[in-house]
Amino acid sequence: MDFDALLNEIKPNKIEKQKVESLADSMIDFINNLAQKKGIQTEAILVGSVAKNTWLSGNADIDIFLHFPLETPLADLKEQGLYLGHECIIFMFGKSEERYASHPYVTGYINGYSVDFVPCYLIEDAEQLKSAVDRTILHTHYIKENLKENQIDDVLILKKFMEGIETYGSEFKVGGFAGYLCELLILEYGTFNKVLKAAASQWKKGLIIDLENFGTGGIFADSLIVVDPTDKKRNVAAALTTHKMAEFMVAARNFLKCSTKDTTHNTTNNLEYFQSVTYCNDLDSIKEEFADNGTKTFLIHFNPPEIPSDAIYPQLKKTEMSLSSKLELEGFKVFKSSYWTNESNIALIILEFEVWELPNYKIHEGPMVWDELHQERFLNKYSYGAWVENDRWKVQVPQKNNNAEKMIEFFLKPENIHHLKIGKHLKDEILKNNVITDINEFLSSENVSKELLEFMDDFLNPGKNLWR
Ligand code: UTP
Ligand code: MN
Repeated sequence: MDFDALLNEIKPNKIEKQKVESLADSMIDFINNLAQKKGIQTEAILVGSVAKNTWLSGNADIDIFLHFPLETPLADLKEQGLYLGHECIIFMFGKSEERYASHPYVTGYINGYSVDFVPCYLIEDAEQLKSAVDRTILHTHYIKENLKENQIDDVLILKKFMEGIETYGSEFKVGGFAGYLCELLILEYGTFNKVLKAAASQWKKGLIIDLENFGTGGIFADSLIVVDPTDKKRNVAAALTTHKMAEFMVAARNFLKCSTKDTTHNTTNNLEYFQSVTYCNDLDSIKEEFADNGTKTFLIHFNPPEIPSDAIYPQLKKTEMSLSSKLELEGFKVFKSSYWTNESNIALIILEFEVWELPNYKIHEGPMVWDELHQERFLNKYSYGAWVENDRWKVQVPQKNNNAEKMIEFFLKPENIHHLKIGKHLKDEILKNNVITDINEFLSSENVSKELLEFMDDFLNPGKNLWR
């Protein structure tokens, strides 16, 4: 298939490339001059996709690393690294935001670009590694040395495909393929088409890719294992979820089927895989779809805690899973559940029920009749309505929380929330303030954003990302 038109769109042209590179150069010069003036032992260098020439047009995030000698105390590295980053952002009239990876770094929004300033240690070998970010310089060298000029196009096409099918990005929100992982896949298989063919018909759970033949793949238990060519003890695909690996395989099959069909019809509509999915944001049709399911849906909404994005999502996921499994244990049946946040003023957990009402009574099992002491205690507590079934006591007791809404309310009370497995920051926010609403009420009363409606469409119709 001919990707020229696509490449025209996604490959940065000379002008854009020059703009990004000269911006990066001037920031690096500024930092290196200031460091020298202040006697700070560091050097700023360009890493990441801009350094590797593997960035998508319109998408440049500039990664500048400030490397310090190994003997620098960590406290100095942090303080001086952040200082230089902040000074550079001020010099460029940008806006800054501090973030945390394995240690602090600062992001600047400068001339419409997002620029990361990350202090790290200069290492020659992964054995010397002090923090996870130290590998990045080694990654940049490895890709620059090993990726052939013509394979850059394949990386860009693969990244764009991953974006289109929503499997790109190693942040927890996505759990997909990192940029570096895409590059390594191209090195392993050669071209975009070969990566897709392998994913479509060869990949199995637990696949090991080991470009440097380190032989250490066996130490990892992930669904995809890509031994880092710069560090034999690191799986580059560690952040990839089984879900996103599976979605990539399915989308690859769909794409390839569609392109064989295309050659016979001489059309190229599978280029649509490189565009993002259009989700429905029409309030009335979303309402109708929920009604049409014949289910009952509740939302719990609250303020998201002020913690980094990579910390919010795991907590939301954990809470959703814990709540839904507790409700199932009580006898309710969850049809689907999920979570969403805009990371500023709303976070929510959505639970759609197949069974949302229970009878007024439930059957409670008592002790065996062989055990006289326990029978005594049991009968003291349940003097009425107990009976023996086979050799065990049973009793019919009122089901206080006999609908899902009451049961959710019960679990979110301060005295009961310990029943749930729930992250600390989220727990604090939920206890401070949470609202449980029926989906119809929510969709009618709240000011529901376009993004939230699109999330609802994805919730109602999962998998739109896999087909075109
Ligand atoms: P980026 O996420 O910015 O990746 O991380 P990238 O290669 O520059 O790709 P895009 O185009 O911006 O999306 C910067 C570097 O940090 C390391 C890699 O070396 C990457 O090049 N990294 C990041 C990882 O090794 N794993 C990750 O999950 C994320
Ligand atoms: Mn980057």
